[in-house]
Amino acid sequence: MAIAVKPFDGSPGAEISGVDLSRPVDPGTKEQLARALAEHLALVFHDQTLTPAGYLAAATVFGPPMRQHYSQHNMTDHPDIGLIWHRDGQQPAERWHTDHTNREKPPAATILYGVEIPSHGGDTSVADMRAAYAMLPETERARLRSLRTVNTLDDHHRDDTRSEDREKFGKPVVHPMVRTHPVHGTPAVYFHITKTAYIEGMTPRDSRAYLTDLLERMIRPEIVYTHRWRKGDVLVIDDRATMHRAHGDYDRSESRILWRIIVEGDRPVLI
Ligand SMILES: [Fe+2]
Repeated sequence: MAIAVKPFDGSPGAEISGVDLSRPVDPGTKEQLARALAEHLALVFHDQTLTPAGYLAAATVFGPPMRQHYSQHNMTDHPDIGLIWHRDGQQPAERWHTDHTNREKPPAATILYGVEIPSHGGDTSVADMRAAYAMLPETERARLRSLRTVNTLDDHHRDDTRSEDREKFGKPVVHPMVRTHPVHGTPAVYFHITKTAYIEGMTPRDSRAYLTDLLERMIRPEIVYTHRWRKGDVLVIDDRATMHRAHGDYDRSESRILWRIIVEGDRPVLI
């Protein structure tokens, strides 16, 4: 397979060409893609045609798929694929976040496949939290390095969480607010604003105010890639050094269906 990695101009991310994800990916290509993800933080593959089983096989390029905690949205026959679809009652995740921080080992990557795409809007944005960290003043970087978040399943706003999911995934998990990337050792700011119940040593209210303020200051246009979906796109996001958000600015009478897979990662550490 001759693959090409074309970094985007003026934003994180890269477009990958020469890869058909419906076919087995050889070990050399797999290695190249894993490195490209760690380096560019978001990878885009266009014009893919995938079955659920083929999509799961392709996802293993980036790691073994792991179960997503709102199991009511997972595909019945392929429960490691979650459906992102407003018509089953979901709200677009419009706040900046990284996925599943309530897990001891949160995902290394989130993979999205565009199955039905509205004619306008519904983009997905990805922010480089490595660049965000680097742009903060050193006093604040030092402060962040000393802080840890306590993460829980943030399901108080929803009434459809299954009790077995709450049982399995509802226990508090502590993570550093700056994590070292396991591939290249770069530090990145790491938190999920609504899954953070509080920052250790701070009240929930002060924690939320600080995280909100941090996001406002850190996420500037120059560190953001906004993906405008086309049917058949696969977007891979490095969850270890980015945050992402959905744009809810599309007509709800149109369908927007993304298939989501998350793949296993390491326990976040700051070295
Ligand atoms: Fe997400």
